[in-house]
Amino acid sequence: MDLFEYQARDLFEAHGVPVLAGIVAHTPEEAKAAAEKIGGVVVVKAQVKVGGRGKAGGVKVAKTPEEAHRYASDILGMDIKGHTVHTVMIAQGADIAEEYYFSVLLDRSNRNYLAMCSVEGGVEIELLAVERPEALARVAVDPIVGIDQAKADEIVATAKFAPELRADVARTILKLWDVFVKEDATLVEVNPLVKTGAGEIIALDGKVTLDENAYFRQEGHAVLEDQDAADPLEAKAKENDLNYVKLDGEVGIIGNGAGLVMSTLDVVAYAGEAHGNVKPANFLDIGGGASASVMAAGLDVILNDTQVKSVFVNVFGGITSCDAVANGIVKALEILGDKENKPLVVRLDGNNVEEGRRILAEANHPMVTLADTMDEGADKAAQLAYDAR
Ligand SMILES: Nc1ncnc2c1ncn2[C@@H]1O[C@H](COP(=O)(O)OP(=O)(O)O)[C@@H](O)[C@H]1O
Ligand SMILES: [Mg+2]
Repeated sequence: MDLFEYQARDLFEAHGVPVLAGIVAHTPEEAKAAAEKIGGVVVVKAQVKVGGRGKAGGVKVAKTPEEAHRYASDILGMDIKGHTVHTVMIAQGADIAEEYYFSVLLDRSNRNYLAMCSVEGGVEIELLAVERPEALARVAVDPIVGIDQAKADEIVATAKFAPELRADVARTILKLWDVFVKEDATLVEVNPLVKTGAGEIIALDGKVTLDENAYFRQEGHAVLEDQDAADPLEAKAKENDLNYVKLDGEVGIIGNGAGLVMSTLDVVAYAGEAHGNVKPANFLDIGGGASASVMAAGLDVILNDTQVKSVFVNVFGGITSCDAVANGIVKALEILGDKENKPLVVRLDGNNVEEGRRILAEANHPMVTLADTMDEGADKAAQLAYDAR
């Protein structure tokens, strides 16, 4: 999960990284009040989870609370690279002498962590990395050792900081490493890290990505989630412990086991080529159990996707046998009642398949079609989706 800048700022502050005062505002009036509270020059900053806000006009210096009010009303509601601004942060204005760059991230390809640092920050760092890679120090960080004093010293020396700045910058880097480890982050980026006129080192803009796999031991992280942006279907799936990913097509897919679901996506996409190029609408793995309540929850998620025109249920009975799965489907259809309003193609195979098919045939639900093979089921589901266009 990516955090907003103000959330990153708060985490930085909690771990002793030097930051400036910042207050969140949702209206121009709140912005004005925040500017009065902070006093002096402030900066009105759009809170959207995308970089380049400054260039897009989403970062404005306000010399008075009235100016803060005006800029906030300009920036709130603005669209920055497809993200609507609902919130601004009123930040204390910094007297910037120099702008630097620092980040530490999980480097999956090298099974390592990677620190990057430059004395030329503030600008688009991606551009710097391409045009003048020598200006961006890249220092590998051993996951077992982490960033200790020696590593921090190595990073600032490799980035060619002036000798008199090295100790201060290294101290800040050690604190940022604390944020990375203690918050279970996969990215901590500061751009710009600045030196003020008074010679202080301050993190002026922060980007943090938290590892969702660590939520079980990070109780504070759940509240950081952006409820406004959450897809309601994905939220519902998560509530029910379903492994769900929304895709763009029209054929809803339910299967048990990630491998089976992935190959079902492939087979449906292939079958769709003969039916107006319809494509899978989602990935949904209901896991090994496939009980009635899990099946109902899965169907409920998929049927609520307005893009879905047909559903293909492809289940392989293993420990949970096909008759149990079939009963699950029948009960799920009862639970859903009138909500089951799109054609359902069901293919069962594996443990006790004959009994499973018999149960479904007997139930004789008007929206359900039985398929003998995966290819046949995929073709039928694709055709039904195409017919419903
Ligand atoms: N609190 C601040 N005081 C003074 N200048 C700032 C402040 N925050 C940002 N800036 C200036 O605005 C630029 C862009 O802001 P930043 O927060 O980095 O947003 P983005 O990276 O999305 O463009 C910074 O490089 C800095 O020069
Ligand atoms: Mg920035």
